[in-house]
Amino acid sequence: MRSPAFPRNTDKRESRRAMEGGGRKGRRSAVLLPWLLALALALPLAHARTLRFVTLLYRHGDRSPVKAYPRDPYQESAWPQGFGQLSQEGMRQQWDLGQALRRRYNDFLNASYNRQEIFIRSTDFDRTLMSAEANLAGLYPPEGQQVFRPNVSWQPIPVHTVPDSLERLLKFPLSHCPRYEQLQNETRQTAEYVNETIENMEFLEMVANMTGIQDVTLETVWSIYDTLFCERAHKMPLPAWVTTKVMTKLQQLKDFSFEFLFGIHRRVEKSRLQGGVLLSQIRKNLTLAINASAPSHLKMLMYSAHDTTLVALQMALDVYNGKQAPYASCHIFELFQEDDGNVSVEMFFRNESGKEPYPLQLPGCEQRCSLQKFLQLTEPVIPQNWKQECQIANSIKDIEFIVGLAVCGCILFLLIVLLLTVIFRAKSQPPGYRHISDEGEEQP
Ligand SMILES: *[C@@H]1O[C@H](CO)[C@@H](O)[C@H](O)[C@H]1NC(C)=O
Ligand SMILES: *[C@@H]1O[C@H](CO)[C@@H](O)[C@H](O)[C@H]1NC(C)=O
Ligand SMILES: *[C@@H]1O[C@H](CO)[C@@H](O)[C@H](O)[C@H]1NC(C)=O
Ligand SMILES: *[C@@H]1O[C@H](CO)[C@@H](O)[C@H](O)[C@H]1NC(C)=O
Ligand SMILES: *[C@@H]1O[C@H](CO)[C@@H](O)[C@H](O)[C@H]1NC(C)=O
Ligand SMILES: *[C@@H]1O[C@H](CO)[C@@H](O)[C@H](O)[C@H]1NC(C)=O
Ligand SMILES: *[C@@H]1O[C@H](CO)[C@@H](O)[C@H](O)[C@H]1NC(C)=O
Ligand SMILES: *[C@@H]1O[C@H](CO)[C@@H](O)[C@H](O)[C@H]1NC(C)=O
Repeated sequence: MRSPAFPRNTDKRESRRAMEGGGRKGRRSAVLLPWLLALALALPLAHARTLRFVTLLYRHGDRSPVKAYPRDPYQESAWPQGFGQLSQEGMRQQWDLGQALRRRYNDFLNASYNRQEIFIRSTDFDRTLMSAEANLAGLYPPEGQQVFRPNVSWQPIPVHTVPDSLERLLKFPLSHCPRYEQLQNETRQTAEYVNETIENMEFLEMVANMTGIQDVTLETVWSIYDTLFCERAHKMPLPAWVTTKVMTKLQQLKDFSFEFLFGIHRRVEKSRLQGGVLLSQIRKNLTLAINASAPSHLKMLMYSAHDTTLVALQMALDVYNGKQAPYASCHIFELFQEDDGNVSVEMFFRNESGKEPYPLQLPGCEQRCSLQKFLQLTEPVIPQNWKQECQIANSIKDIEFIVGLAVCGCILFLLIVLLLTVIFRAKSQPPGYRHISDEGEEQP
């Protein structure tokens, strides 16, 4: 009943802006009358909804490859800052994203940086930290009071992180989860996976031969694609064996390996152990944002992370489009307070610069999804006790069984020893009292 009648994202923001400015304009001149009429017609449709909170998750910008393959003509020294580093292109992409966010949220975020309004967290990688900084340079160009050097159009803004070894929120797949490893083993047995392996056996062998890597599998081939992709993006001529056809095939296999991480088999349970962990935190912060009894000034939560983070989250939400998240692509959650008091969540994906973000619809909900329904629909992928769910049910029973067996064995052994001792003593002990200390003298 609601969603089809509502204007799309662009119109919505325009109508929001129009509504804010409408009163003042209207008083100015009767020339604007038709305008006002149109507005009056649009108002009941648009509602006076207020944006309350935004959560963003983006991938870092363009980077150098994370590694080279053995026969790669471009080793680490071919890259200005070595492997895995944000390039200037990557900085531009993030700055552009920051600018796009400024345009989108200009009426929402204060033009000047306010530390209570926004919180930024990044994984502890140079490229994600630098991406966040480049992004914020685009989002908060200093003006007036905030300029600290006349010719510097930049101001420092904190980007928070935790050491990589402690990162349990933004880096996937999460390790130390036996049940997840077990699910991955099961996935390797599925018809789809086995078929994919068989179908590509020869291709993978060819890739192994050409790259000098011993064993190339469906799960490792993505890194070869990634390296070649980076080299191509930086206009480095590729070896002759890397034809367009080979690149297409590699890309397809790389997409499969991303799917493999969080889907193909038991997506929901995998999500509980992976992307659901991040989604759980996002849900908590959405809920906190509208809690009137715990007022918060926070308006935006920004996460700077990786393509795997985006897949993990989007797989958990079941909105993944099957394509690796492009550089600087950004998943958006917007929390609105509707005029009837209801609260709703909308999701968008900005994966093509120069285009309005794509609306993402949570399966089972409208684009404008009530928070209550959003929470209800995502509940199955939220872990209740991650550590416990990561344990392998069978192995717990096995361990109990083994421990039980060992205890029984020990008791039995002790009983036998006791019995033998008693028998032995009964036989060997001569009648009468003997002092313990005399035993030594009895030796022959
Ligand atoms: C934006 O921040 C400035 C400086 O902190 C403050 O004076 C101003 O009132 C804020 N504007 C809005 C719309 O909150
Ligand atoms: C700012 O830049 C202009 C032009 O590049 C230069 O003439 C001026 O000296 C600079 N001012 C300061 C304070 O650096
Ligand atoms: C195996 O993969 C091929 C090509 O991807 C497809 O045509 C075929 O139907 C698949 N077979 C099974 C059993 O999935
Ligand atoms: C890979 O190399 C091995 C040994 O050099 C050769 O036997 C095999 O045919 C090659 N495979 C492909 C697909 O090129
Ligand atoms: C997000 O929510 C958590 C509780 O779930 C809270 O501790 C944290 O401060 C919130 N983050 C921000 C930036 O408000
Ligand atoms: C809202 O905040 C109050 C105070 O912090 C807390 O007791 C209550 O549980 C919160 N409600 C929700 C729905 O999170
Ligand atoms: C961007 O996301 C939309 C929605 O998932 C999808 O239809 C589109 O193909 C994506 N574009 C790219 C370049 O990945
Ligand atoms: C507000 O939300 C409730 C629960 O989702 C729903 O029943 C009700 O129809 C909503 N109100 C409006 C005006 O959409």
